[in-house]
Amino acid sequence: MKIACLTTSPAENSKLEEVAKRRGHDFRFINPTKTLQYISEHERGLDRFYIAGEDHEPVRIYSKDIDVVIPRLGSGVEYGSSVLRFMVENLGAWCPNNPWGHVFASNKAYTLQKLSSVGVKVPKTIITESPQHVAWIVDKIKLPVIVKTWNGSKGKTVGICDSKRSANSLFAFAYNAGLRILLEEYVESGGTDYRVWVVGDKVAVAMKRSSVDKNDFRANISQGGKGEKVQLTKEDEQLCIRAAHSIGLNIAGVDLMKDSATGQSYIIEINSNPGIKIIDITGHNPFEDIVEYCEQFYKKGSAGGIVGMQGMFTSDLLLSTTFFEGLAGVMKENKILSDFFRSAAKDILK
Ligand SMILES: Nc1ncnc2c1ncn2[C@@H]1O[C@H](COP(=O)(O)OP(=O)(O)O)[C@@H](O)[C@H]1O
Ligand SMILES: [Mg+2]
Repeated sequence: MKIACLTTSPAENSKLEEVAKRRGHDFRFINPTKTLQYISEHERGLDRFYIAGEDHEPVRIYSKDIDVVIPRLGSGVEYGSSVLRFMVENLGAWCPNNPWGHVFASNKAYTLQKLSSVGVKVPKTIITESPQHVAWIVDKIKLPVIVKTWNGSKGKTVGICDSKRSANSLFAFAYNAGLRILLEEYVESGGTDYRVWVVGDKVAVAMKRSSVDKNDFRANISQGGKGEKVQLTKEDEQLCIRAAHSIGLNIAGVDLMKDSATGQSYIIEINSNPGIKIIDITGHNPFEDIVEYCEQFYKKGSAGGIVGMQGMFTSDLLLSTTFFEGLAGVMKENKILSDFFRSAAKDILK
C-alpha cells in the first residue's frame, strides 16, 4: 500500500514509519500546513491536491499516489482535518477514521454530547454560556467541580474548584477571558485514569495512569503522571471501542475513569492523536496494530470510519455517496444489501 501519514511532527511518528516500511509499504509524511487544496469549478472529480516545497512550485499529488492516509493531527487539528477531509472525500484516499471524527474528538463538548446521546456513560456535565447560575450549577454537579476548556489536551486546561467561591470567580474569569468551558462532576478515582488505544474492533493496548503529585488530580503523563500496562475487563474494552466508534474513529486513544468507591466506568474524552509515550511504558507499539488494520480493511474507493458508527452525522452522511459506497463495501459479504447501497449511491449522484 502507499501510506501517507498526515502530520506536522514526523519525528513523533517515526515508529509508524518504521512499522509501515518493515511491512513492505511505501510510506511518506505529508505536512498538512504545506498543502494546497485546489477546488475545481467543474463537476466532481477535477479537484487537485498539491504539496508546497521550500524551493519549488507546488507539486501535484495524484489519487494514485496515496492509498491510505493515517492522520496524526496534533494541535492544528482544525486545519489538518480539513486537509484530511479533502484527501479522503475529494482525492479518494482511504482513511481508517471518518475525517469528521477528528473534529468531534478535538472538542470535549461535542464528544460528551455525542457519547451521551448513544448511551455511553460520561460524568455529569453542564455546558453553558451563561455564568450567572454558579450556585445552581454547583448544586447540580456537587463540589468539587471540574472545569475544562472545550479544546485542550495534555491536562493543560483542566482545573478543579473546591468551593462555591472559587467556582464563582473561575467561571467569571473564563467567560471574561472568552474561553468556552464545560463543568463536570469530579470522579473520585484516587488520581488515576486509563489511556486505551482502540484499533478497529479491538483494544490494542491500555495503560493505567496515576498522578504522583498529591496536590494534582490530573493523571496525564505530560503532567508528570506515571503509567503502567494493564489488561482491561471485557466490559471496559467494549465501552472504549463503542465510545471511539460513536464519534467515527476506528483509531483513537480513549480516556476512561473508574470511580474507586462504586467501580463505575466513565469515558471522559477521546483523543484522535494519542501520545506515543505508551510505547515505551507498555512495550507495545500500537502502530503495528494500525498498519495491520489498514492492510486488512483498505479497499480503494470505500469510505473509512464507517464500520461501527452509531447514528452520527446523519444529515451529512445520508447525503453523501461515499457513505453508501462505504456501506456497500462493508456489506460485500451480502450481495443483495451491497447492490442496494451501490444503487443508492448512484441515485444520489444523478
Ligand atoms: N471528571 C473528572 N474527575 C476527576 N478527574 C478528572 C476528570 N476529568 C479529567 N480528570 C483528570 O484530568 C486529566 C485531564 O482531563 P482530560 O479530560 O483527559 O483532558 P486533556 O485533554 O487535557 O487530557 C484526566 O486524565 C484525569 O486525570
Ligand atoms: Mg486526556
